[in-house]
Amino acid sequence: MSVFYNSQTNQFYLHTKNSSYVMELYENHLAHSYWGSRVNAIPNLEHYYPFWFGADFSATDIPGRRFNSTDKLPQEYPTYGTGDMRSPALQVENAAGDSITRLRYESHRILEGKPPLSGLPATYGDDCETLEITLSDELTGVTAVLNYTVFPEKDVLTRSVRIENRGNTACTLEKAASFCLDLHQDGFEVIHLHGAWAKERHIQRLPQSAATMVFDSKRGASSHNENPFIALVRPETTEDRGDAYGFCLVYSGNFSAEVSGEQYGSTRVQMGIQPFGFSWELKPGESFQSPEAIMVYSSNGLGEMSRRFHKIIRQNVCRGKFRDTERPVLINNWEATYFSFNQEKILALAEKAKAIGVDLMVLDDGWFGKRDADNCSLGDWVVDKRKLPDGLESLCQKVNDLGMQFGLWFEPEMISPDSDLYRSHPDWCIHVDGRPRTEGRHQLILDLTRPEACDYIVDSVCTVLNSCPISYVKWDMNRHMTEMPRKGFTHQYILGLYRVLEEITSRFPDILFESCSGGGGRFDAGMLYYMPQTWTSDDTDAVERLYIQEGTNLVYPISTMGAHISAVPNHQVGRTTPVAFRSKVAMMGRFGLELDLGRLDDETLETLSKEIALYKTYQQDIHQGDLYRLLSPYKGRTAAYEIVSDKRVLVFVMNITGAPCQAPLMLKLQGLNPDGQYKDPATGIVYEGRTLMGAGIPLDTRRDHQDFLTVFEVYGA
Ligand code: DGJ
Repeated sequence: MSVFYNSQTNQFYLHTKNSSYVMELYENHLAHSYWGSRVNAIPNLEHYYPFWFGADFSATDIPGRRFNSTDKLPQEYPTYGTGDMRSPALQVENAAGDSITRLRYESHRILEGKPPLSGLPATYGDDCETLEITLSDELTGVTAVLNYTVFPEKDVLTRSVRIENRGNTACTLEKAASFCLDLHQDGFEVIHLHGAWAKERHIQRLPQSAATMVFDSKRGASSHNENPFIALVRPETTEDRGDAYGFCLVYSGNFSAEVSGEQYGSTRVQMGIQPFGFSWELKPGESFQSPEAIMVYSSNGLGEMSRRFHKIIRQNVCRGKFRDTERPVLINNWEATYFSFNQEKILALAEKAKAIGVDLMVLDDGWFGKRDADNCSLGDWVVDKRKLPDGLESLCQKVNDLGMQFGLWFEPEMISPDSDLYRSHPDWCIHVDGRPRTEGRHQLILDLTRPEACDYIVDSVCTVLNSCPISYVKWDMNRHMTEMPRKGFTHQYILGLYRVLEEITSRFPDILFESCSGGGGRFDAGMLYYMPQTWTSDDTDAVERLYIQEGTNLVYPISTMGAHISAVPNHQVGRTTPVAFRSKVAMMGRFGLELDLGRLDDETLETLSKEIALYKTYQQDIHQGDLYRLLSPYKGRTAAYEIVSDKRVLVFVMNITGAPCQAPLMLKLQGLNPDGQYKDPATGIVYEGRTLMGAGIPLDTRRDHQDFLTVFEVYGA
């Protein structure tokens, strides 16, 4: 039993294999007691912290008790107006015009498994138990139903909340965080994933401030700039040691994560839909469902935290037939041709790709309307016969005849002002009457709060997908939102988007979908629920990718990260790196190619062919195994990663810059059975696990852009 209520002590216990999360009913307030390593029991708050009440200037709404104000009490879902002056999780504007909500415990129930969240992506599975706690405001009828799901074997907890209006008058939600957590200490460091287009998810680790730190997006998408993930760690926490608390929102729109150092030395952490620009009217009887947050505690550092996120996202967020299976190695024509292609060029590329072992030819942007540049035709999902005179069906057939699958790019959420769709429906884009319509990449966004716009996307995309055997779709989205016509709009948009994605992906279960937003501008667990992989970045330079991919795999599994070998000099940064180095970096994700094979010499093609074969041999180990980050590019000139699967151990080393006169770098492996036997098939030497972890393996790091892949077969226990 992983969820347990102790009626003697009024405590709720949520146990995973290695962690416990404890709450207490304190005068009918839902208080936070503990989250950390597994415990059997924790004393009640007043006994555990008899000294924890400071100089008192707080309003007293719990007379006669030590935590006599909610301003001090560590809470699970705090509100505003009756004593807690900290940032509330829930902010409601009542019919009377005030913003007071006073939530008290009403009831709870424990459920096997986990109910789905209406209209929203979320974790799923049978390997879990759910605690539902209902808190309500007697006067207004505003009710918060807090959901806690425990995945005991995965050491993961999820939280979300449903706000119900059980009163007689309408009210308006101004903020409804997915969770709030009052940790009993401060002095943490906060890790967040910061970036920009072509520079996504760079790791930044900041000392916690006594003020409020906010990490957020107001762009209408989770964004390149800030990812819906944060972690709190102790200053001494490393990859394999120390406390790490990770939080990841299963959501693709505007979000906010707040970390506040509080007056009595505690830390309030909250995450959810961005309150800025948010507003949601709840009439009597209506309810609002927040997105879900996935929460991981690790006592063994960031590596263990990441592995727990990887497993839950891989197995309980991603869905569909490709979740656990091998996926095709693809070639995408974007960096090979950009908009300048025709049937002959694509077929020539496909033919060359087939010869080196590629499985799938993806036709990127420019196949529809009259799109010779990025300034027209989005919305007109009809093949451009100037480029493909025999149509998509014929191209697809010819690619299939080569023994390859065929894939196609779409950007369905967009509308170009120069398009037939816009000429027929100028009001279908997001706009405010009387204001100029701000363009981004010469395009506007379809208003997915309009059912007719959603239906158009479903119909037009499905018509193309039904026209020929398409095996893969890249779903792109290339601008952020402006001129949102009302508060709450961006969340309504995301609900419309999720409806469209659910409909299309469930109609085509055999198509592999990859999401994209100008690279990784919507790399989030929400999108991964519909599409099991995401294009990681438009920066395809192998060195740049090391930083981007390491930030990404802090939370997201490498099985979800599209990673391609591209041309040199690289199109984004002009750097030249060897093809084997580019290949190893791409193997730390969903491997593919994105370059003009017609320009390569035979030797490079030969190397590519070997690298593809190598990837295919180890693809399942790479994507189902456990990742250990051994050396970080953020800390030195060599990046090293180890993947441990049931059958083998793979060690990838990418040397960014070399230096002469080096002693061998002894790379110590992790996560092995100390008594286990591991055989290096290249030399035939069998190592004990403790040797590989204790003494390590020697590496020559003298040369720039050198790569190594060392494989050990699990030989015996
Ligand atoms: C942005 C994507 O990230 C690229 O890979 C490519 O598909 C372009 N869009 C096409 O416009």
